[in-house]
Order: sequence, then C-alpha cells, then structure tokens
Amino acid sequence: MTRIAVIGCGYVGAVSAACFAELGHEVDCVDTDPDRIALLRSGRSPIHEPGLEPLIQKGIQGRRLHFLDEYPDQFEAKIVFIAVNTPESSEGAADIRWVRDAVSSVAARLGPGSIIVNKSTVPIGTGELVAGMAGRAGRGPVSVVSNPEFLREGSAVRDFMQPDRVVLGSDDPQAIERVASLYAPLEPVIQRTDIRTAEMIKYASNAFLATKISFINEIASICEALGADVAEVAHGMGMDVRIGGQFLKAGLGWGGSCFPKDVKALAHMAAIHGAHPQLLRSVMEINSDQRLRAVAKLRGALGELEGQRVAILGAAFKANTDDTRQSPALELAQLLLLEGASVAIYDPVVPAARLNHLVPMATVAGSVEEAAKDATAVVVATDWPEFIHMDLARLGEGMARRVLVDGRNVLDPLAVRAAGFDYRCVGRPGAEGPALAPALEGVHA
Ligand code: UGA
Repeated sequence: MTRIAVIGCGYVGAVSAACFAELGHEVDCVDTDPDRIALLRSGRSPIHEPGLEPLIQKGIQGRRLHFLDEYPDQFEAKIVFIAVNTPESSEGAADIRWVRDAVSSVAARLGPGSIIVNKSTVPIGTGELVAGMAGRAGRGPVSVVSNPEFLREGSAVRDFMQPDRVVLGSDDPQAIERVASLYAPLEPVIQRTDIRTAEMIKYASNAFLATKISFINEIASICEALGADVAEVAHGMGMDVRIGGQFLKAGLGWGGSCFPKDVKALAHMAAIHGAHPQLLRSVMEINSDQRLRAVAKLRGALGELEGQRVAILGAAFKANTDDTRQSPALELAQLLLLEGASVAIYDPVVPAARLNHLVPMATVAGSVEEAAKDATAVVVATDWPEFIHMDLARLGEGMARRVLVDGRNVLDPLAVRAAGFDYRCVGRPGAEGPALAPALEGVHA
C-alpha cells in the first residue's frame, strides 16, 4: 500500500482516486470546491459514471479514500497526482492556469524525494514547467512524471482497471518505477518514455481517434453520394487488424470535453511552432459539417425549418454520461433554433435545470413521447439504449409528421420505415430519404 494524493475531483481525479483506493492504496483527494467534496464525502459521485459510486463508498468505508476541501499543511503522501481541468482558452490553446495553481500549492507542501505526477492533458513542455515550479518552491528535489489518462466517460472505471497501456514519462527512472508500482496489481503494459513524448502520446491518441471518426464521416458522405452503406464499409474495413473496427461509427460527429479541445490545442501548438496542421484542421472541419448535414437532412424531409417542431433525443455528447460539453445534440439544437424551428429535448440523465440553462429557447421534455408530441421530426442524437429500443408505433402516434433522422445510425432502417416513418440516417442507402438520387436509380434497380 502506498499513500498518494490526487488534486482535482473531476472525472479523471475522482475515477483515479477511487480506483487507486480499490487497488489498496490510501488516497487523499483534494478539491477546492467544497460542494463537490461534501457530495463525495457522503459517498455520492459528482458525475454520472457507471460503477464509480460503489467504489467511492467502498473506499470511504475502508478508510482508504479521504476527501479534503483544502490542502493539508504538509502532504503525507510522497506521490501526488495532478488531475485538474485544462479548458480551452479563447485562442484554442489549453489553459493550464489550474495546473499552475495546483502545482504551486502542492510544491510548497511536499517533502524531498516526492513525485508530482501529471494526469491533466497539458501542452507539450508543461512537465518541465512543473519541474521548474517545484524546484523554485525550494523544499528539496522533487521528480515529475507525466502519466496521461485514456479513460472514456461512461466506461472510465473499466478503462482504469483494464488499461490497454500505462504511459509514464520522466527523466527520473526511479520515479517512473515508483509510479509504475502503483499500477502493479493491474499487470498493465507500461511504456516508459521521456516526459515530452508522454505528453504528446495523449494528444496524438485523441487526435487520431477523432481523425478516425472524421474519416468515416467523410466516407459516409461519399457513400451517400454513391449509394454504398457506410456501416458495412466500416465493418469490412475494421476486420483488417491494421485498421481496427473501433471509432468507425459515422454520425453527428465527435463532441465532449476532450476531442474538441485537444484537437484544437494540438493544431494550435503545431501552428505556433511553425508546423502546418492541415490534417487536424480538416478533421475539425468535417466534424462541424456533420451537424450541418443533419440540418440539411431535416430540411430535405420537411422543407423550410421555420415553424417546424423537432424533438432531439439525447443531450449529452454520447450515451452513459450526463456530460453535455460540446455535445453534437446541443449544437444541432442551436442550429435548428437559428433556423426558426422549435426544439424539444429529452435526455435520460441530464438534469432538466441544466438543459434549461444551456438551451433556454428549447423545451425540456421528461420522456421520448413527451418530446415527440406534435413534433414534425425526431432526431436520435445520442445512442442511449432507451432510444435504440423505443416503441416506434407509440412514438409516431403523437407526432404531427413522421420524420426520423437517425444521427447515430443505431436504428434498423426497415423497421423504422415499416412503422411509417420517413427515415434518414448517415451514409447508408436511403440516408437522404426514400427517393434515390436520379443518377443512382439504375444502380439499385
Ligand atoms: C476520449 C478518449 O476516447 C479517451 O481515451 C480519453 O481519455 C478522453 O477522451 C480524454 O481525453 O479524457 P471521451 O471523450 O469520454 O474519451 O469519449 P469517446 O468515447 O472517445 O467519444 C468521443 C466522441 O466521439 C463522442 O461524441 C462519441 O459519440 C464520438 N464517437 C465515438 C463517434 O462519433 N463515433 C465513434 O465511432 C466513436
């Protein structure tokens, strides 16, 4: 057992702290938000994350997990993880002011021989900045290790407990081994590298996954033009182990608190250091076009959008989370409102008060049927199982017109059309509606 500390109780910090406690370590988790700490102390999770709450409760009961709303005078822990937010600045760079704050608070309270481990996603070179700050705090030598996280919201506990790899970057091999030993019960594959490379692995991983999705979304648009089925194309491609089948689902594009900010920050870093990030720029452009293409599909089905009533199913950026940051669903809602449509939104877990605040012009519904009542179209914006298995006949009963845009390609086109809907999806035959483009009629005759 090792005593460690985690600074920041957001999704990375809370998950890492609870999981390290589950591995048998004693964890002090510090966050300067007293409400968040009070919630955590009562055994509740501040985020909707499957499996997290039981681990928090177990850690508290076993006295291995402690939540503090202020820094201790002196850390008992010798290994301190920084897991604070690095939001997007107005210029598109990662804003590391919370990292700086955390490091200066931590460095003043650490004894010699301690290790600061950075889990926040930070610009390349931040490790050296952290080392400099810790050195200037003058309490003896402190090592810095970069340990990027690869947790997905919605499956973060599983991703922590079954990592594909653990990346550790430092110029101090002993510090790397001490941090590696924390993960030993998981028997992970460990990549040991230098600190800048570790920081870059994080950005490159997220940028590559975003690129994969934008790639398949571009292929989906070409499939729509040429009458091929992108779901089958992705399946066929994915069986090639060099390509792999994951992150090849076409849809409304990627969102969330990570991909949009990280791809932009990487492009920004590249540009200010004289590189020309043309691929990353295209990846972002294709992504924002996916939202516009959904609007075009609705216009294709309904005609002018002014005065139409559109129900959006799902508000979070993906299923199994209540995170609405950079959500394609909410961006689509804003675009439709700008076109003069009225919008009703339903999400199984995002609180109504938050949705009212985020999209004040939209109506927040308490169920799929309530959202769809009197709607002229429904958009499936998030792949929650509740939407995949919804009762289509019941859905259609209350609607003014039966148009369904499947922004996640999760419904069976035949079943939806059999239920009397004008069904539109992304990159599958008939994606643009029942009538094929004239030039393609021969292909499908
Ligand atoms: C992502 C990475 O997957 C994690 O490895 C990383 O640790 C995390 O960012 C982070 O940097 O903190 P996350 O943002 O939770 O995790 O979500 P993903 O599951 O990666 O999905 C991102 C977006 O891509 C979602 O909007 C999702 O709906 C979309 N997506 C994903 C697709 O449109 N198609 C796909 O095939 C897969």
